[in-house]
Amino acid sequence: MKVGIVGTGYVGLVTGTCFAELGHDVTCLDVVMEKVNKINKGITPIYEPGLEELLKKNIREKRLFATSNYGDLKDAEIIFICVGTPPKPTGESDLSYVRRAAEQIKETNPDAIVVVKSTVPPGTTLSLNLKNPAMNPEFLKEGVAVEDFMKPDRLVVGALKKENAEKVLKLYEKLKVPQDRQIVTDPTTAELIKYASNAFLAAKISFINEMANICERIGADVKVVAKGMGLDSRIGERFLNAGAGWGGSCFGKDVKAIMHTAIEANYEPKILESVIEVNYNQALHVIALMERAFEERKIKGKRIAILGLAFKPDTDDVRDAAALRIIRELAKEYEITAHDPIAIENTKKELERDGIRIHYSRNWEECLKNKDACLLITEWKEYREIPLKRFKELLAHPILIDGRRIYSPEEAKKRGIHYKGVGYGKK
Ligand code: UDX
Repeated sequence: MKVGIVGTGYVGLVTGTCFAELGHDVTCLDVVMEKVNKINKGITPIYEPGLEELLKKNIREKRLFATSNYGDLKDAEIIFICVGTPPKPTGESDLSYVRRAAEQIKETNPDAIVVVKSTVPPGTTLSLNLKNPAMNPEFLKEGVAVEDFMKPDRLVVGALKKENAEKVLKLYEKLKVPQDRQIVTDPTTAELIKYASNAFLAAKISFINEMANICERIGADVKVVAKGMGLDSRIGERFLNAGAGWGGSCFGKDVKAIMHTAIEANYEPKILESVIEVNYNQALHVIALMERAFEERKIKGKRIAILGLAFKPDTDDVRDAAALRIIRELAKEYEITAHDPIAIENTKKELERDGIRIHYSRNWEECLKNKDACLLITEWKEYREIPLKRFKELLAHPILIDGRRIYSPEEAKKRGIHYKGVGYGKK
């Protein structure tokens, strides 16, 4: 099938490349010429494992082509809108790029099935007044987006006409998604499925973080609590890792956007408010753990080492990252040195915008050297592999605050480390 993709950001490029890999004839459109040129040369403008290889292959085999001209989409049967919906200061999503793309498509190819893939507030797709509107949310995680696309848990398509939904589903036919994992509904319901999913995942993490805080007070271990809960198949063990809180480009933005939708519809979303509040406090809680360790050792710590800046491992993305929240707060009083395998440049940009200056190290050893405490914030594999004795050898005071619970508290204590981990309350 002839497919058009508008917007070659993270979602658009993964979607376009994967559709080409499934054998479709794909044209990707972006208004930024630099991106178009890169894509046509087989270079991905974003970092996503496995994507560049697929892109190169499909460019070479001429199933994928990038353009900045809407005229090139005039033969497409189905066009996906994958442009950004950045948050406004109110939490509301900025839909101007989506609306602009829809208007341009209406002019060049009014009969196409136009599928909104961008995450948009419920009601948006229908408000675009398209002849053949559809909505098909994405559930792609950064770092494993290609795999998520190729092996989806479910396919959701919202359309007004059943035959249009079926055509959209046909694009995914080769993935062999079982029938009972394919949902055909109206566009507004499809839009809400996306928000509800992300809000629920964020809530699941905030919930376990709340349990973690209770564990610390009563002498329990949240890791074991999570395991015990997760074995109930109704709950499931995934997304029950307590820590310094969730971040990234989706959770915060989506929870706030759906709260905004709820309030506009005269409904007060109390659970969602708490999901955000618990998450915000969780980052500060990690600082409180550190300050408690200073008190217990009766020292006035000043120099802090931060391991991990990205919002999760295997990405250089620092948007809404717990580490940044922690640094913004810590920087008021402490001298900070940070390390991350790939997210230092992005962190520098973010912090410099706020006028915050910290030190950066080339490796974790340099980062730890002579510091009064170490805060582990992102669970990169290389940090998991640090021999515990190195913390004792390198730090001026062996205080280790495990913001992701990756080290064994018992082992750490055995090696003379003053260990505090989120959700670990045992003496
Ligand atoms: C998320 C959704 O998972 C995905 O379906 C959606 O399409 C986009 O948003 P992503 O933002 O890439 O994906 O990251 P994800 O792996 O979901 O992690 C989000 C945050 O939650 C990270 O900061 C991570 O560290 C944190 N997290 C995750 C926890 O704190 N505990 C967990 O158990 C899981």
